[in-house]
This record gives sequence, C-alpha cells and structure tokens, in this order.
Amino acid sequence: MRLLASEKTEAAPTEVSAIGRAFDPFEPDFVRDPYPALAEAQRTEPVFYAPVIDSWIVTRYATVRSVLRDTARFSPRIVSDPLTPLCPVARDIIVNSEFDVPGLLVNNGTPSHPHCRKFFGEPLKPHHLARLRPFIEKTVARHIDRMMALGSSADLAAGLTWDVPALVLFRLLGIPDEDVPQVKDYADSRVVLLWGRPTPEEQTRLTQGALDFFRYTTNLVHARMEKLEEDYPSELLRQRDGDDAKASIRDIIAVTFNLLFAGHETTSSASANILSAILSRRELWEGVVDGSIDIPNLVEEGLRFDPPVQAWRRLATEDVVLDGVGIPAGSHLLLHFAAANRDPERFEQPEVFDPTRGNAGQHTSFGVGAHFCLGATLAKIEIETMIRQLAEKLPDLRLAPDHPPLYLPNTSFRGLRRLVVEW
Ligand code: HEM
Repeated sequence: MRLLASEKTEAAPTEVSAIGRAFDPFEPDFVRDPYPALAEAQRTEPVFYAPVIDSWIVTRYATVRSVLRDTARFSPRIVSDPLTPLCPVARDIIVNSEFDVPGLLVNNGTPSHPHCRKFFGEPLKPHHLARLRPFIEKTVARHIDRMMALGSSADLAAGLTWDVPALVLFRLLGIPDEDVPQVKDYADSRVVLLWGRPTPEEQTRLTQGALDFFRYTTNLVHARMEKLEEDYPSELLRQRDGDDAKASIRDIIAVTFNLLFAGHETTSSASANILSAILSRRELWEGVVDGSIDIPNLVEEGLRFDPPVQAWRRLATEDVVLDGVGIPAGSHLLLHFAAANRDPERFEQPEVFDPTRGNAGQHTSFGVGAHFCLGATLAKIEIETMIRQLAEKLPDLRLAPDHPPLYLPNTSFRGLRRLVVEW
C-alpha cells in the first residue's frame, strides 16, 4: 500500500475513440450494471484508452491472462496506489507518522516477490487453514441464528456477509476477542480511498483509520515476539526464526496489516454477489436446498459471473502491442476481469449463470500466475459455508422486493452493500 504514490501515465494518447470517451466506471448506470458496456467494448474495441482514469482498458480473456503472466513487461507495483492523490491533510497524517508498508506481495514488481510469496504464503496453505474450519462453521451459524431470532427479514450484507469474513481474518491474524469491536472500525472499506474518488474528508478519515490499524498491527506483532500463539503473525515469526534475511519485523507487520483488507472486503463482496445471483434465480436456490447443485462449482460460477475484483491494474514497463493496439511504456492498464470472465471465446453463453459449467473455475477473478490470490482456498471455504448453512436453516429464503442494489463507485471492486431478504 503506497498511500503517497500516485504515478501518472507518462504518455497519454492524443486521439481517443468514442468507446474510450464514453467509458466512465463512476457513472451510476455503469456502477449498477457494467456488463453491457463491457461486452460492447470487447466486441468492437477490446483494448482502448479511457482518459477519465488515464488507463488502457483490456477486456479479452486471452489478453488479460497473457498480461498477468508477463511480469517482465507488466509490473504490478501500482495496483494499490490511490487513484485520487491524497489531499494535503491526509498526506500529512502519513508523512508525520511511522506508517511504513513496503510492497511485498500484491504490488511487488521486483525479483524479491517469489521469495516473499513463498514465505508469507506458507501459513495460508490448506493444511494450516483447516484449523479455521470449526470457527468458520460456528461463526456463520451464530450470525444466521441471530438474524432468525430478530424476525422474518434481514439485510444479509449487514447481518452475515460483511461480518463473517472480517471475524475470520481477525481470528487468523490473532486479534483477541476483546479487541474485535475496536478493530471492526479499522475494517472500514478502503475501496474508495484507493480505487475511487473520495472527498478530502473521506480521505482523512480513511487514512487515519489505516494508520490506527497499522499501529494496532505493530503492537500485535511485538506482543507475539514476546509470546508466540497459534495465528498468522506467530507462524511467520516461527518461520523467520530471528533471521532478517528471511523476513524483517517491518515486513511481517506490513503483510499482516495488508491481509485484513485483502481477505475481508473481497470475500464479503463475493458472498453477497453470489447469494444475490442465486436468490434472484429461484431454480438455483431450490437446487442448492435440495442438494442437486454442487456448491463448490456454483461458487466458481458465481465468482466468474459477477467478480468482486472487477478490474486490476498493471504498469507497462516497455512499449507493447495488445490486440493490435500500441501502448507506450509507462502506461497504466486496467485489466477487466469482469469482461474477461464473460468472453464468449472462452465461456459459452457467458451471460448465463450455469452452476454446471464445466470450465467455471477458469475465471480470472483471483488473478493468474505469479500473483494468484493466496487466500482463494480460504475465501471459497467461507462462501460455501454461508451458502450451505443458509440453505439448511432458511430453505424459503428469498430476495425482498423494492431494494435497489447498492455499490460503491470505484474502478475495481464490486460488492453489494445491501442484500435484503425474507424467509
Ligand atoms: C473472493 C475473495 C477474493 C478475491 C476475489 C481475491 C482476489 C485477488 C486478486 C485479484 C489478487 C491479485 C492477483 C494478481 O495481481 O494477479 C489477489 C491477491 C492476493 N490475495 Fe486475494 N482475493 C480474495 C480473498 C483473499 C483472502 C481471503 C486472502 C487472505 C486470507 C487473500 C490474500 C491475497 C494475497 C496475500 C494476495 C497477494 C498475492 C501475491 O501477490 O503473491 N485474498 N487476490
């Protein structure tokens, strides 16, 4: 997270096409439903420049994958830089503090990435995560029971899908139960801060929140240096074994700090989007309830159909040509996963939600190649558990009428902030 960095494209094109001029990821119709505009672009002009975000938009499945695989020519170092540069007050909060979060994983475009990935990814391997399963089951059950006790209608986003991934991350990071109410404030969305158009007030509040969580994480790691526990920072300290060449304490703090955002908002959005897609197609929900639909494949299809990470940035490190379009070195690219996941060249009838789709898992929603999401297994366990338990406990679950979808306008993340249901 390079909060102070907002690199500009070095060479913006002088001529912009009609599709490029019309593309605006903040425009309300696009925020509500980006898919028709993306399909049109993919058909007619699969790579184009959009001046509104000073980026080249890439929409075809094969091209998005080839860019992700080519880390030499396409660097990830800008992926989490603020799209809107920080205002002076927010900048001062960072400049006058000890905030220090180097790019080690998702925005690491240096040769150190494979080492970092191996070291920091080890405790996220499936055999380590098995430890979290009983906690996930219990937390999901507790949230559904609480909603059921309150009546016959609830907002699933507020009552289930926002909280569960946050609590799972807190458990993974080793945040003690008594700190959870305080740390929940830090789990505020960073989407608008980094990928949106925040007001100066929002920037100031969110930057202060990020700094508070950084300080909390620093204290947490220092406490684990005194006494190791069974959690992510302790596991890293054990692996480090006092050897700075493996990882410094600063690096462990930075990765622990970033993991809350990486694992929370993404998984919350995915579960809300998938539940919405299933509940708005009655036959799918009935298939889940009667057990005729395979939930893991349904989740893959949900991740393909309406991905929580809609688009992800890369920086061209040299002049390149993509789908016949020349792009100068220094340009910013926005790889549109949402478009790639509906490319008819890869997915038959891509606009249909098909839980039996044979290649659903080939979506790009977790990225591809060197930076492929390290939390994919954990996210899928959580989403599957929520769907399974909802089907068991509330088989009559349905969407409540008259609640228009609510999303945060930004370039990269799409997640329902409200999902009102009845039973
Ligand atoms: C449905 C939920 C999730 C989605 C859609 C998602 C998506 C992504 C994407 C698109 C990337 C970047 C890939 C690239 O640049 O090629 C990524 C990287 C990453 N994700 Fe996730 N993620 C999810 C959940 C999680 C969870 C639960 C965790 C942690 C517990 C996590 C940890 C990470 C980490 C550490 C990276 C950086 C990997 C690297 O650069 O080597 N993610 N994720």
